Amino acid sequence: MVKEIIDKLYLENNGTKEELNFLLDNLTDEDKKYLIQKAHETRMKTYGDKVYLRGLIEFTNYCKRNCVYCGIRRSNKNADRYRLTLEDIEECIDIGDRLGYKTYVLQGGEDDYYTDERMIEIIKMIKRKYPNNAITLSLGERSYESYKKMFEAGADRYLLRHETATKELYEKLHPGASFENRQQCLQNLKEIGYQVGAGFMVGLPGQTNKDLVNDLIFVKELEPAMVGLGPFIPHKDTPLKDEKGGSLEMTTTMLALVRLLLPDVLLPATTALGSIDPTGREKGIKAGGNVVMPNLSPTSVRDKYSLYDGKICTGDEAAECRNCIEGRINRAGFKVEITRGDNIAWRGKNKDIFAKDVDKKIRTENIFLR
Ligand code: SAM
Ligand code: FES
Repeated sequence: MVKEIIDKLYLENNGTKEELNFLLDNLTDEDKKYLIQKAHETRMKTYGDKVYLRGLIEFTNYCKRNCVYCGIRRSNKNADRYRLTLEDIEECIDIGDRLGYKTYVLQGGEDDYYTDERMIEIIKMIKRKYPNNAITLSLGERSYESYKKMFEAGADRYLLRHETATKELYEKLHPGASFENRQQCLQNLKEIGYQVGAGFMVGLPGQTNKDLVNDLIFVKELEPAMVGLGPFIPHKDTPLKDEKGGSLEMTTTMLALVRLLLPDVLLPATTALGSIDPTGREKGIKAGGNVVMPNLSPTSVRDKYSLYDGKICTGDEAAECRNCIEGRINRAGFKVEITRGDNIAWRGKNKDIFAKDVDKKIRTENIFLR
């Protein structure tokens, strides 16, 4: 029965809530192998053996939110706070370009210091220097107008994990935050024209298979260009410090299911997965993952962007991370692809939007030079 559901997922890229629930409740080791194999076959049909690299710049660990799982939450007085300047970021992207990264991910806590004006200055600086490289933003919840201004300044993609698609669980984990607003932000980003990334954590305290099915159905319906999913890992200075973290098994199962539901999706094998298992990222790639985000942040701040305990790569130079990851990808039987790595379906659908864009010249170049 489970095998039949996997076959259906493989052939139709769809499944009902009941089928997904049944699958998660009854998955044996043998079924799991079959699931991973089918996810692998699906990625080979869409992206082949390519793995895209994104240079991750963690540019601020100030945050006004208080997500209970997160090491840089507002109430963590032990967090050693930092912000990168425009010049620091410029240095990171120069190194990144030399290392062959064609996408930069600017990620940070929700930090009001980075006003729209400051973000636009950063985005324009990057696009002036490297017009053909893509910018992904991951700055949390902002207004429609703010997202729009940053898009018009040249940002291409936005990563905003929905974290969990179960309202009660979301509200427990995010005191004072609105479940509806997070989901509205994702709709806004999509409407504006970003390649949007949603995503969730696996193994959150209190999370059941039903909650994970909600996540799967949510991403299937939203149809984002990217899905960032990784295990929850406790952080010693948070209220969840004594909780159990998410497992490699469950995370790779979720990666495989997302690949089957959304064959075209960009799916990172996350640093969190690499942090709970020495070859976690390789296992994530084998389960359908096709993106890795090595760290480009200056080594002086790496360990300060501490979201969870045991985060890997905090002491390595950008070049070491780049080489390390390429070796890992190759040894796992895959190849690094040095392009912007846009979502294939999105690329086809959005040529017209691009052409109409305010920053017409740069964006048109981006399409045709890829
Ligand atoms: N502030 C932005 C936002 O809210 O989207 C981006 C930064 S936030 C730190 C990036 C992601 O880290 C979150 O979406 C969350 O899923 C993940 N994260 C935070 N704490 C974590 C933990 N303890 N274990 C695993 N992932 C975690
Ligand atoms: Fe803001 Fe984690 S609580 S980034």
